[in-house]
Amino acid sequence: ALFFQQNEPRRKAVSVQHSEKSSQEIISGLTADPPHISPKYLYDELGSRLFTAITELPEYYPTRTEAQILKRHSLEIKQAVGATSTLIDLGAGDGEKATALFEPFQIKRYVAVDISAAFLQTSLARLQSRYPHVEMVAVEQDFSHSLHLPNEIGNDPRLFFYPGSSIGNFNPADALAFLQRVRAACPNGRLLIGVDLIKPADILERAYDDALQVTAAFNRNILRHINQLAQTNFNLHEWRHIALFNADESRIEMHLEATRGTTVTWPNGQRQFVAGERIHTENSYKWQTDAFATLLKQAGFNDCRHWSDDKNWFAVFVAQA
Ligand code: AVI
Repeated sequence: ALFFQQNEPRRKAVSVQHSEKSSQEIISGLTADPPHISPKYLYDELGSRLFTAITELPEYYPTRTEAQILKRHSLEIKQAVGATSTLIDLGAGDGEKATALFEPFQIKRYVAVDISAAFLQTSLARLQSRYPHVEMVAVEQDFSHSLHLPNEIGNDPRLFFYPGSSIGNFNPADALAFLQRVRAACPNGRLLIGVDLIKPADILERAYDDALQVTAAFNRNILRHINQLAQTNFNLHEWRHIALFNADESRIEMHLEATRGTTVTWPNGQRQFVAGERIHTENSYKWQTDAFATLLKQAGFNDCRHWSDDKNWFAVFVAQA
């Protein structure tokens, strides 16, 4: 069965509240010093498609490296995970990554959690026809602040899947809080999580500033999205993509930089930006394996094991809740 689960049954009222809440959040970020926009607004439908394109770029190694690790160490990883039948995919996107786990783990129920409802629903409808025996549950949720799973998913042993180093988009304190929430939601379950590792700055910066400029389009698309959500009037031609490695904070930062002085307006407000001024849009933290294992333990996980690639660019961890 394919069924969709939303946070609230009264969909219309909820979406009005959502957009009022999101415009307030967007405007308070734009008027802050330094100005910022939450990275969650990168992922409207087009943004999600652009992100999928990023994962196919030669410079963007994380997705491919993680897939190689999962493939090469599949037996040991399977052993570490043990018996499971419910796969909970956090930030499922198109759900393609998770399908690699369906057969080896004999998954009977696939729970896809994502913020982008439209994208999730198209993806699951497609997956359901390819995997008719797997029950599919779509949960539309921004799990960055809280995690609520519907009762329908039952009490079979749960495997939480958080691939792609999405954990890197949280700062360390928020990453810890997030992992604590996951642990609370999987008594006796397991977590399978991908983590991007520290490496030379030029490799990192190229991965976030590719020659085709797909990442630039992905970053600039956030302005198009917030123009819709908060009725701002950003002119995308006036903003350029910046990606830099901040070694002190151990993170890639994405910014949008004004190429000339400009004024952005919205209902009841405006802000002037001088040429060269930046809006911070995303952080992508890079970890050392020891520090990440410590974080998992702090969150209450045990039996943490990890596997890596030959270059030590990426790690896949399995931990017990
Ligand atoms: C989703 N997340 C893990 C990506 C990353 O690498 O931090 C998002 C991304 N931003 C630019 N390129 C990819």
